[in-house]
Amino acid sequence: MASYEQIFENNKKWVAAQKANDPDFFEKLARDQQPDYLYIGCSDSRVPANEIMGLEPGELFVHRNVANLVNNTDLNVMSVINYAVRYLQVKHIVVCGHYNCGGVKAAMVPQDMGILNPWLRTIRDVYRLHENELDSIKNDEERYNRLVELNVIEQSTNIIKTATVQKSYLAKGFPIVHGWVFDLHTGILVDLNINFPKILQDIQKIYNLTGESSLNADENSY
Ligand code: CO
Repeated sequence: MASYEQIFENNKKWVAAQKANDPDFFEKLARDQQPDYLYIGCSDSRVPANEIMGLEPGELFVHRNVANLVNNTDLNVMSVINYAVRYLQVKHIVVCGHYNCGGVKAAMVPQDMGILNPWLRTIRDVYRLHENELDSIKNDEERYNRLVELNVIEQSTNIIKTATVQKSYLAKGFPIVHGWVFDLHTGILVDLNINFPKILQDIQKIYNLTGESSLNADENSY
């Protein structure tokens, strides 16, 4: 109970600190949001999005779920992407996974996990897509880390498959999609440097939803 009440004490201190720093802070905050970034990350309590990116309230649009998945039948994540791209006009979309991800770990164990089965299936599908590479890694920890990275890359690709992102990119040259991994041991954000124009090009044969014959992904606009 003590820690529950502590939250409201913390909040009062936070309000005071913000006002001391900038008397108009909350006036500005209430006005509008114009974030340049949409962040899609894991729900894990050890990965606080704004803090690790050094961004203030108003600067980051956030969606989090177990193991940072982007399923195309998930109305939640799809609504977030749609709103962020069409209305907020974010310039970057980031999928941020993290090493030591419990969701990814659970997916590596072939057993019935009840209600989690359909959720973890997406990660198991990532394993199947990259089975040769993953099975060639003999060290368990390294294989686990690599699946975390490959999951980020596949979820980033899932974002690039959406009509919302393709059409916006064709018309305006943004958003650019990025894949990152947060390392809990060091606090460092690792950019996986996914090749956004190349992925966009590669998926066109099957996933081009723009109505145009070519998405014309230009390296220069990257
Ligand atoms: Co996680």
